[in-house]
Amino acid sequence: MMRTHYCGELTLKNENIRAALCGWVHSRRDHGGVIFIDIRDVKGIVQTVFNPGSDVFGVAENLKMESVVRIEGVVRLRPQGTRNHKIPTGDVEVVADKIEVLGDCAPLPFSVSDYAEVSEEVRLKYRYLDMRRPSVRDIFVFRSKLLGVVSEFLRSEGFCEIETPILTKSTPEGARDFLVPSRLSPGDFYALPQSPQLFKQILMISGFDRYFQVARCFRDEDLRADRQPEFTQLDIEMSFVEEHDVQGVLERLLSSVFEKLLGQKISIPFPRLSYAAAMLKYGSDKPDMRFGLEIADLTAEMSSSGFKVFRQAVERGGVVRALNIPGGGNFSRSEIDALVSKSIDLGAGGLAWMKKTASGFESNIVKFFSASELDSVSLKTSASVGDLVVFVADSEKIAALVLGQLRLLIAERLKIPREGYNFVWVTDFPLLEKDDMTGTWNAMHHPFTSPADTGGFLDGKIDPGQLRARAYDIVLNGAEMGGGSIRIHSSTVQKKIFSLLGISDEAARDKFGFLLEALNYGAPAHGGIALGLDRLVAIMLGETSIREVIAFPKTQRGSCPLTGAPANVAEKQLREVYIKTTLTKDKEK
Ligand code: AMO
Ligand code: AMP
Repeated sequence: MMRTHYCGELTLKNENIRAALCGWVHSRRDHGGVIFIDIRDVKGIVQTVFNPGSDVFGVAENLKMESVVRIEGVVRLRPQGTRNHKIPTGDVEVVADKIEVLGDCAPLPFSVSDYAEVSEEVRLKYRYLDMRRPSVRDIFVFRSKLLGVVSEFLRSEGFCEIETPILTKSTPEGARDFLVPSRLSPGDFYALPQSPQLFKQILMISGFDRYFQVARCFRDEDLRADRQPEFTQLDIEMSFVEEHDVQGVLERLLSSVFEKLLGQKISIPFPRLSYAAAMLKYGSDKPDMRFGLEIADLTAEMSSSGFKVFRQAVERGGVVRALNIPGGGNFSRSEIDALVSKSIDLGAGGLAWMKKTASGFESNIVKFFSASELDSVSLKTSASVGDLVVFVADSEKIAALVLGQLRLLIAERLKIPREGYNFVWVTDFPLLEKDDMTGTWNAMHHPFTSPADTGGFLDGKIDPGQLRARAYDIVLNGAEMGGGSIRIHSSTVQKKIFSLLGISDEAARDKFGFLLEALNYGAPAHGGIALGLDRLVAIMLGETSIREVIAFPKTQRGSCPLTGAPANVAEKQLREVYIKTTLTKDKEK
């Protein structure tokens, strides 16, 4: 038998039995001739003992860290005083009488058994060593359990798991596609799916009623801590539903996941907040609501202010918004200047401010305001003596962005406690947003989202900018966890959306003809959602980057240090798929 026990399983109960163990050399201590070697496997660590004079002593003396060994010996109780209560196997040790080195280990680029800081590039290049560290391995064990809980829950609610293609046609989710050239159809390309959106809608038209998939998605976009070029969605679609049905499934699912995996009760239903309220109060469509610091709107109050910057912003159709910083009255001038330059970096023309003191507001601009304007500042911002109020007068978009970011910075600076898991649904999104550069309309979510008022939309009576979407995002602690919507299930409505988005009939037929056609063959009302699984796991484990919870992630530059992807391919391979690059690369590299 190769192995009789796992290292991490041996306890007092195994006293005096013979055991065969397989694992990695975790540590080695020389104690006056006796050698103690800790062997590690997937279940834990156990101490083995090599006595001088025994046949195996010589091998033990020369063992390299992280080599793989098979050891046989007798389990005995450790002498009193030498027991280790920190590990489950700490009462016993295995006295070795046979050892075989199954895999020798080269000099290590970093230590596996201690947690010395190692650069991410090196960790990812030697990801197999990195993942030997129990704390890293635990992440993937957790992730696997989460997938189990999710799939058990969804099956119990009648969902059917169906896999959709990876080699497919473009599904627009707002990013660039990754393309794969076709050998059999010269000059043509597959696109890797940005999401299974169209397939899941077609599965509803096929009559599946409830679908789910743990789906790999591919988006060629700039990478950040919460964005990878390939990532995993928990993708869900349901027929004959409205918003609250989809939201209800997600609420029950998440409450089950948090309870089973973290022992945390989260209260459902989650609060709902409209997009407009989120942007106004928190300056973000993914508000962190674990703390207050709400933004106040003073547009009406400042419309005829003696302070030109404010008055003119309102005259131009903009807004005046303010954020009260509790205790900010004692910020130094340089701290305030730093807030001003941060605001300017974010696009504001400036950042006005006032300190509230026992004798009223103080700052170089206070003289421009009437008493009633200052009263409304007090009232709307609830500023108390000792606070600092900061203002942005600009377009609604810039004011929200700048104050939303300052709000997060201030929470950090004031060390406002942000504990627990705060879920919120953000609803009532605009259907479309205008591209400031080109003046054209883009879908705020994706082009398959149903307008809230389909009749008004078809009549063309509603200004496109005023159309609301039947879309909802789920936000956890200020991060977008997922997004979904009720879909368009009429080809007439879908065609009209395409034309509003500037997609010609011909282009619509070319790109999405299969969907438009399918919608003509009896399409049920349907809707769904996709959760970012990497983001969920990262937040549940308190990790700041999703790279930590993906086994083989890409770096910020989209490369894989382990495999070296992306990489050059042979000329012949390119010829086979009719590709000629215009870039001449240094082949030596
Ligand atoms: P959406 O584009 O909002 O919706 O994506 C759903 C969720 O996927 C996660 N996510 C990402 N995670 C890591 N890296 C990325 N590059 C990345 N991009 C997105 C986010 C996001 O909330 N088809 C629709 C869903 C639907 O309407 O049902 C869609 O893909 O957590
Ligand atoms: P100025 O008239 O440019 O000297 O600005 C007077 C004060 O108003 C300064 O404190 C600026 O930082 C601030 N300020 C300028 N533009 C804006 C703006 N768009 N919103 C808020 N404050 C501003």
